[in-house]
Amino acid sequence: MLRLENISKAFGSLVVSNSVTLDVTAGQRHTIIGPNGAGKTTLINQIGGQLSPDSGKIFLHGQEITRLSAPLRARAGLARTFQKNTLFQALSVFENVRLGAQAAHGRTYDLFRSWRSDTGVLAQAEQAIEQMNLGRIAAQPVGKLSYGDLRQVEVAVALATSPTVLLLDEPTSGLSPSETAQMIDVLRALPREISILMIEHDMEVVFSIADHITVLYYGEVIASGAPRNVADDPRVQEVYLGAPQ
Ligand SMILES: Nc1ncnc2c1ncn2[C@@H]1O[C@H](COP(=O)(O)OP(=O)(O)OP(=O)(O)O)[C@@H](O)[C@H]1O
Ligand SMILES: [Mg+2]
Repeated sequence: MLRLENISKAFGSLVVSNSVTLDVTAGQRHTIIGPNGAGKTTLINQIGGQLSPDSGKIFLHGQEITRLSAPLRARAGLARTFQKNTLFQALSVFENVRLGAQAAHGRTYDLFRSWRSDTGVLAQAEQAIEQMNLGRIAAQPVGKLSYGDLRQVEVAVALATSPTVLLLDEPTSGLSPSETAQMIDVLRALPREISILMIEHDMEVVFSIADHITVLYYGEVIASGAPRNVADDPRVQEVYLGAPQ
């Protein structure tokens, strides 16, 4: 579904991606972990098209997208959430999600366009609301939501674009334990037609969602595989626990 081939990126002398190669297969729940500053977000930014790699190639469904603009990548089936809040505070949850669906149809953010009859957009928005279990707050203005609900709305906006590959940057950061549990539940319930590549710090979240883990360390992949194998990897244990076990 998604392939990175020898992706490298440096900011001046700081190497943030060091020949990163990884594959996200169909239906996979692939989690990227690694210490702060390991280069996880900059990697997602290169996949999303917000940053250009210095070298290497990115493929989506076998098509090279390395130099494609972010909107065209989105059109091709790639959706992402951002760490910072990108929602319209005064608009309702449903309207925010509907704008996401509308953007995917190439009608970017035209609030005043008559959309009530646009069944494709509406159906996509409704499905995303349902997938994230947000029906109970669909009519509420985003500015009034709890942080946990906000984070779920962000994912719903991404889902409204009908992605085949969903990129999530720390979907549970800042959430309470009960909000985290709720996020895990909705993410686990997403259909396997959507492949997920997710950055996550919380190991409980990682092990309850991931079927594949890639460990980044100073921009380099030091391990990649099934959760159990990665957890048992001596190099990974050294990075996380500071000493070989
Ligand atoms: N635009 C930039 N210019 C210069 N350095 C940057 C830029 N963006 C990120 N960096 C640096 O690149 C390194 C990797 O940053 P990145 O945000 O990818 O890390 P991360 O793994 O996502 O960390 P965290 O777990 O804290 O979110 C960090 O040292 C960061 O300071
Ligand atoms: Mg980050």
